[in-house]
Amino acid sequence: MTSQDSLKRDAAAKALEFVRPGMKLGLGTGSTAEAFVDLLAPLVRDGLDVTGVATSERTALKARALGIALDELDRLAPLDLTVDGADEADHSLDLIKGAGAALLREKIVAASSREMIVIADESKLVAQLGKFALPVEIIPFGQATTLARIARACAALGYRDVKATLRRKDGALVRTDSGNLVCDCAFGAIKDAAALGAALSAVTGVVEHGLFIGIATMLIIAHPGRVEIIRRTG
Ligand code: A5P
Repeated sequence: MTSQDSLKRDAAAKALEFVRPGMKLGLGTGSTAEAFVDLLAPLVRDGLDVTGVATSERTALKARALGIALDELDRLAPLDLTVDGADEADHSLDLIKGAGAALLREKIVAASSREMIVIADESKLVAQLGKFALPVEIIPFGQATTLARIARACAALGYRDVKATLRRKDGALVRTDSGNLVCDCAFGAIKDAAALGAALSAVTGVVEHGLFIGIATMLIIAHPGRVEIIRRTG
């Protein structure tokens, strides 16, 4: 296990302390969220009664294989708690998510939860969002026109020459679990995440963007030898 993997595990282990019997749990996507699922599974085998809602097919497969009961969001909402990773998190608990192309379901599940705990190693905690290219999920139809509208919306906010690149894997366009595409927008630095999020949401053809603003209620950040908890205030 690399030292970063062990930090992810430390953050995941701390999040488990907030899980109570009978909870309805949103299960995030990505390597850190999977560390949480790995640690949750033995507790479930020992009788902890929780039901999960997966934020991706990938997480659903893993959770089922480990014996964690899953159900549909619409049957369980509101959820008690969602535990998920992030690509970047700032001290206001605003996030960039979507490197795993699961941002849409992740946001729907988190928005349907009373609490959202974000677990991450220290490399994800940043003073300002935007170094990590922002994932934006778009409808495949008319994709080039949507990319052009995204660029115009960004330019109107002062972000000149933002590169919006359709994500590919092995040469093929990446499809989300909902059959959409993902473009990654390189901002460098995001000055006003709320304004950018609102502008992107208003672009025709955009399904969802990876800015999670005002959703997370707690950050659990693992540093070597200690775990830091940052709670939402107000
Ligand atoms: C998935 O779409 C993402 O939002 C992940 O939660 C995020 O990329 C964090 O992944 P890691 O824990 O693998 O870094």
